[in-house]
Amino acid sequence: MSGANVISHPLVQHKLSIMRDKGTSTQSFRRLLREISTLLCYEVTRDLPLVRQTIETPLAEMQAPTLAGKKLVFASVLRAGNGLLEGMLDLVPSARVAHIGLYRDPETLQPVEYYFKAPEDLNERLVIVVDPMLATANSAIAAIQKLKERGANNIRFLCLLAAPEGVSKFTQLHPDVPIFTAAIDEKLNEKGYIVPGLGDAGDRMYGTK
Ligand code: URA
Repeated sequence: MSGANVISHPLVQHKLSIMRDKGTSTQSFRRLLREISTLLCYEVTRDLPLVRQTIETPLAEMQAPTLAGKKLVFASVLRAGNGLLEGMLDLVPSARVAHIGLYRDPETLQPVEYYFKAPEDLNERLVIVVDPMLATANSAIAAIQKLKERGANNIRFLCLLAAPEGVSKFTQLHPDVPIFTAAIDEKLNEKGYIVPGLGDAGDRMYGTK
């Protein structure tokens, strides 16, 4: 299916399969999520622009490539987004972090905002929004809408799993925001869960069920 960049790296796929297994413990799930998020982060930042900076090695001066522009922003959609955040910060420790608190009303499946905190100068930074599950896409769409209202104009969306329904709704509403995911599953069920999926990502990472 088009509309999303599927990260097919064997390590990503292997770790994802273990995470899907309902027998995987909370502790293992959390560790795997941290590991997989560094690999996903590697892929979502693969084409970042570089500039040359003059540095001196112990032997000579050189024009060394370094990341161009302002520090990245990782925007976590609470609470499950935080599970991706840690591994990404392991890889890009200088990134700024935004938090967007949205919960899904279980009746309407619509997102309700309860928290928003982000750097002021979003218009000058690449913002990578993280949320493990792109299911109905309602939360992701609302989070990105909010970031755009606050000035963000260079946004990518990173998740672990996506549903085809979520990908097509998301790309209709935010065609300028590329999606990166480890897999696109079969479908959504009537409760808005991704099938086969991995269950509730927040519950599985925090052991709340
Ligand atoms: N959120 C989850 O955690 N899991 C799903 O399958 C869908 C949304």
